[in-house]
Amino acid sequence: MAESMKGLHRSHRCAEVTKEMIGSKVTLMGWVQKTRNKGGIVFVDLRDRSGIMQLIFENGSIDENGFERAGHLRSEFVIAVTGIVEKRSGAVNENLKTGELEVRVDSLRILAEAETPPFPIEENAKTREELRLKYRYLDLRRPDLQRNLMMRSQVTTLVRQFMANEGFLEIETPTLCKSTPEGARDYLVPSRVHPGSFYALPQSPQLFKQLLMCSGYDRYIQIARCYRDEDLRADRQPEFTQIDMELSFVDVDDVIDVNERLLAYLFKEVLGVEVALPIQRMTWKEAMNRFGSDKPDLRFGMELTDVSEVVKDSEFVVFKNALEAGGSVRGINAKGQESMPRKKIDKLVEFAKGYGAKGLAYIAIGQDGTVKSSFAKFMTEEEMQALISAMQGENGDLLLFAADKTKLVWDVLGALRLELAEQMGLLDKNEYRFVWITEFPLLEWSEEENRFTAMHHPFTMPMEEDLEYIDSDPGRVRAKAYDIVLNGNEIGGGSVRIHQNDIQEKMFEALGFTKERAYEQFGFLLDAFKYGVPPHAGLAYGLDRLVMLMAKMDSIRDVIAFPKVKDASDLMTNAPERVEEKQLKELGIEVEEQLD
Ligand code: AMO
Ligand code: AMP
Repeated sequence: MAESMKGLHRSHRCAEVTKEMIGSKVTLMGWVQKTRNKGGIVFVDLRDRSGIMQLIFENGSIDENGFERAGHLRSEFVIAVTGIVEKRSGAVNENLKTGELEVRVDSLRILAEAETPPFPIEENAKTREELRLKYRYLDLRRPDLQRNLMMRSQVTTLVRQFMANEGFLEIETPTLCKSTPEGARDYLVPSRVHPGSFYALPQSPQLFKQLLMCSGYDRYIQIARCYRDEDLRADRQPEFTQIDMELSFVDVDDVIDVNERLLAYLFKEVLGVEVALPIQRMTWKEAMNRFGSDKPDLRFGMELTDVSEVVKDSEFVVFKNALEAGGSVRGINAKGQESMPRKKIDKLVEFAKGYGAKGLAYIAIGQDGTVKSSFAKFMTEEEMQALISAMQGENGDLLLFAADKTKLVWDVLGALRLELAEQMGLLDKNEYRFVWITEFPLLEWSEEENRFTAMHHPFTMPMEEDLEYIDSDPGRVRAKAYDIVLNGNEIGGGSVRIHQNDIQEKMFEALGFTKERAYEQFGFLLDAFKYGVPPHAGLAYGLDRLVMLMAKMDSIRDVIAFPKVKDASDLMTNAPERVEEKQLKELGIEVEEQLD
């Protein structure tokens, strides 16, 4: 029978017990990790969120009844013990913080019994993720996940401390909001009081934090839950958390300054890692040209080379067509990969096709200098040599080329570069390479909508020197926007905001909004700006991504207590689910039956 806590108080967590405490009495509580029964002695590993302590139950140290019950303990029973800290009698366990110690138990309470869990509760368990997520409350007992969530808590605590010292105020903004469908898809919430009307869950607190600047709060921070109905990936969840901030009377450098110091503080406190300041800055254009990505991983080289000039006269139709259509030919040099088997190269071609490439052309330079290539027959000897030399190809190298519209070539080679780095083992999780990406294009052309859309959001300030092109050549205007990138992940982004009505109007025009529509959607903000708006700017981090990298995990699911899976459902609670007819009626909602 489960016993109560009556009169019992925990004195320490398991791993808080130290050598200095040998001889003293402690009361520990936690879960049974495992038991070993050696006749007259029962050893039990007790686990709590701090770690493990070996318990020793010996007839005589504990009364007969206690000893007998110790023999019946099983994994995941919840127990409380009192006993004396001793130097471990058996072999020292080097892997444990408490490996030199044990507690000789004189009293035992069984607080709860437990069924056998569906998978072992241990570090790096190879259990299928679906099963782990179904029993997430058990999964969360595993030491690696516990460490991750403890680190996450440490990060948010430190962020709050640091920002408070810098004069930021923590202010909450609503999560039942107006739907403003610019950006990702909204999650809608029906209103019972206003049948047929809907709130939206916030994709970010963007508009509210700008309003707070209008209201004079001048430095705002919030650890804010955000919701976006978009396709999930390892670094995307439908609900996620931002460290969101906004500052008044600032420009780009001010935002970057406070954030660099914040990052340096976090990495020092949490990981003991020194972040060298200032963090490198790179324009969007340079990032795309050199790395084919606006979130370049700078832990390794393998940069892209534009060889359009070199091959411009070649007869190879693939190159020729791409160049004639205004595209480019670019390549990367996979150093020392010349001997990659044909099958593996074919896989890379398939990988590239996944990113929209029509193919991938390659040159393998043998150790003896002989050249194997998928397109040598279309090229002259001199053209081949010029190409190899432009790529700084040496014996043993594998050169890979894509020819297409430049944006596509960037995407393909940017992704290929990462894939190769992964295969070649060039990615070291202990290395942290930060970079600010600046001067993003203000707008990007959407084929789907046949209009420009805001690359960041419609309130992002164009660069002063490009303002003159906003009517004539909007695609060329750069924005006062910046992303902070860590090891190839966009961990945060922000911008200076437009605070001048005439520029905002031009921006809406460029986005194809009529005045009426702009007012309908954002009237409250535009009105607020009429009453005295300070220049302001801000940034938001993806907390999940930041902690994922700090914890050296591959997925943000590993740093979120209760994450969702790819189809946005929760395997433990089965959300989302159908609701009762009565609930729908109240909301004035009729569901069209879909046969699935
Ligand atoms: P943005 O849309 O760039 O900017 O978002 C900021 C950061 O949030 C993280 N992020 C996500 N993390 C997990 N799952 C998702 N689905 C997801 N989407 C975004 C990223 C990203 O860098 N209001 C602006 C910020 C500003 O301008 O101040 C905004 O939301 O790490
Ligand atoms: P083909 O003549 O179509 O067999 O193409 C010759 C080589 O060019 C093959 O290795 C193709 O994979 C490659 N290739 C085809 N399209 C492209 C492209 N857009 N960019 C780079 N290489 C390509």
